[in-house]
Amino acid sequence: MYKYVHGGDIYTARDLTQNPNIIDFSANINPLGLPPGVKEAVLAALSECQHYPDPFCRELTQALAAYEHVPRENIYCANGASEVIFRLALALKPKKALLLTPSFADYEKALGTVGTTLEFYPLTAENDFRLEKDFLQVLDRTYDMVWICNPNNPTGQGYEASFLKEVLERCHRRNTLVLVDECFMDFVDEPEKYSVQHLLESYNNLLILKAFTKNYAMPGLRLGYVLTANRQIIDELRAAGQDWSVSIIAQKAGICALGQTEYLQKTRQLIKTERQFLLKELNKLGVRTYGSLANYIFFQTPGHRELDKQLLARGILIRSCANYRGLNSEFFRIAVKNRADNLILVAALKDIIKL
Ligand SMILES: Cc1ncc(COP(=O)(O)O)c(C=O)c1O
Repeated sequence: MYKYVHGGDIYTARDLTQNPNIIDFSANINPLGLPPGVKEAVLAALSECQHYPDPFCRELTQALAAYEHVPRENIYCANGASEVIFRLALALKPKKALLLTPSFADYEKALGTVGTTLEFYPLTAENDFRLEKDFLQVLDRTYDMVWICNPNNPTGQGYEASFLKEVLERCHRRNTLVLVDECFMDFVDEPEKYSVQHLLESYNNLLILKAFTKNYAMPGLRLGYVLTANRQIIDELRAAGQDWSVSIIAQKAGICALGQTEYLQKTRQLIKTERQFLLKELNKLGVRTYGSLANYIFFQTPGHRELDKQLLARGILIRSCANYRGLNSEFFRIAVKNRADNLILVAALKDIIKL
């Protein structure tokens, strides 16, 4: 039977508990909610819905081009970052790809649909889930594609741009495409240290995946995009699916969100404060935390493998990481939310993990 493997499934949680007020720590969504003006933009867009959406997302890519400082021809928008992932697999049909584990599940799922031979580079608890130098030698085995999530989901570990430049250089020499998923980069304190955005023009084997989902708190609207100087790939992505996957509503919401720069600054500040608060509280409870550079915290509790179930009984949904390759039921991930929600979680954790 098909198994849903992501966070954010409040629907099943509500069914299981008969509790309509589940607090969702399992999806890593900006706790500030929709940016100012987006709700109004969505309502206004409804009156245009008797038309098909612009298949080229012209107005949106124009706004994104200004925001990302890249030519609009280097941007492809889709129905969430996940749609880009599946389209990439379908368009490029890589014969052999390298994935890091544990990481976001859809890379493997998407490549599985086109029969890609997968090899895995294990990130381990012993190394704090860091990417080690030997990764560069592994790239010499020659892959059609390498997928890197930065910061990584679920570990929250980040890889520095200077190191990724070496990765890109090696891969460039071997005609290997590199997808760097930066969907959580907006939550990082020093994005300039980690993002490879500035390398887009120099490396046409680089694709950067981004979304409005987490940073602008709009998972329900579905809007993601990819940046690359390789315009042939953008054409192939267009050809790999329907032309109208980004609704008029999502396009207008995206344009409005991009204007809200103050909202992103507020977000970064809030996440920084609340992440520190949660890390401190978790460490007080003797929980082992890792990475956690973004708006989620990844931790290990050997003595509490049922923690997710115990919290759900109290109306709190967290992400068990047991189904990630290389992890087990000792590992969990929680979103960084606002102080009121974080306090509820900490109180429940204190109750369950009694020292
Ligand atoms: C690292 C990463 N990339 C991509 C996605 C997909 O995002 P979207 O909801 O925009 O499809 C997710 C969703 O959880 C994610 O964690």
